[in-house]
Amino acid sequence: MKSIRTALLGATLIAGAGANAASADELNLICSADNALCEKLAATFEEKTGIDVSMIRLSSGEAYAKIRAEARNPQTDVWWGGTGDPHLQAANDELSASYESPMLKELLPWAVSQAETSGYRTVGVYSGALGWGYNTEILAKKGVEAPKCWADLLNPALKGEISIADPNSSGTAYTALATLVQLMGEDEAFEYLLAMGKNVSQYTKSGSAPVKAAARGEAGLGIVFMHDAVKQAVAGFPIEVVAPCEGTGYEIGSMSLVDGSPNPDAAKVFYDWVLTPEAQNLALEVGSFRIPSNKASTQPEEAPKLENVRLIDYDFAEYGDSERRRNLLARWDMEVGAAAN
Ligand code: F6P
Repeated sequence: MKSIRTALLGATLIAGAGANAASADELNLICSADNALCEKLAATFEEKTGIDVSMIRLSSGEAYAKIRAEARNPQTDVWWGGTGDPHLQAANDELSASYESPMLKELLPWAVSQAETSGYRTVGVYSGALGWGYNTEILAKKGVEAPKCWADLLNPALKGEISIADPNSSGTAYTALATLVQLMGEDEAFEYLLAMGKNVSQYTKSGSAPVKAAARGEAGLGIVFMHDAVKQAVAGFPIEVVAPCEGTGYEIGSMSLVDGSPNPDAAKVFYDWVLTPEAQNLALEVGSFRIPSNKASTQPEEAPKLENVRLIDYDFAEYGDSERRRNLLARWDMEVGAAAN
């Protein structure tokens, strides 16, 4: 990794500022994927470059809120992972910096399209479809038929058994909200969410928590990205993974550089490295089975095959638009969140 380090130091010298020389050895990272992968990426990057990484794991909506709150005095350099909509919102609000990485030419079209939609303020790093995982033992014990469709989640026999995150904090839950709006129409989606809410035991902060709860037997079913349910099934828990029959949405997990960040040179070194197959393949070592964005990365066998899932034509530009996201979340709070309290 000597070449990366040399490139970094070169960039720092070109910048010519003494203060930058010290900051070139540091990186402040917000990571919005699963913690095991966040830690693996941070540790491997540190080892390869000697750059100290200070990393925190935040759910996608929380990460957006932190970057927004720090807009006048940015503390974060890179925001890696998490669903694409709040990254697009950050781009919309000009909280992220435009950067055309030399790695773009190695990426799959959906990852590049995310960059183009945002004026190169964000880029796709992985992808995965929304669905759920249910605990086969709990549902069998209750005599509930396997829920295959969104409509099945309204079954009163599932009362208290469904877990889903709060879309304010979680990108997964916001993807679910935006998916239902696109599938059904906005008013119908809110009616559906209110009705399903009768079966919801808790709205969690993090998007993958619901299926972890289902794996441990604390809930019957967790609405999550399918890869998060696969992770529990592969770990040996009695979890069955479902792609809803009416169709479903998906995420383009994204990455953004924070505008005006304290360590812009180190940030670009991380950005370019984390898009390489070498970095993307680290996900396999920690049981993360999403679809990576580099054409040459290993496509995990365990990853749900998107060609077998009825995917909607998710409108990332619309649902990543600041006003649209703000309004949908405000309506969720007033109607669904209020009914839960
Ligand atoms: O656990 C991984 C993951 O599901 C990613 O695929 C996704 O981008 C992220 O977590 C979303 O997390 P949250 O819903 O907590 O924002």
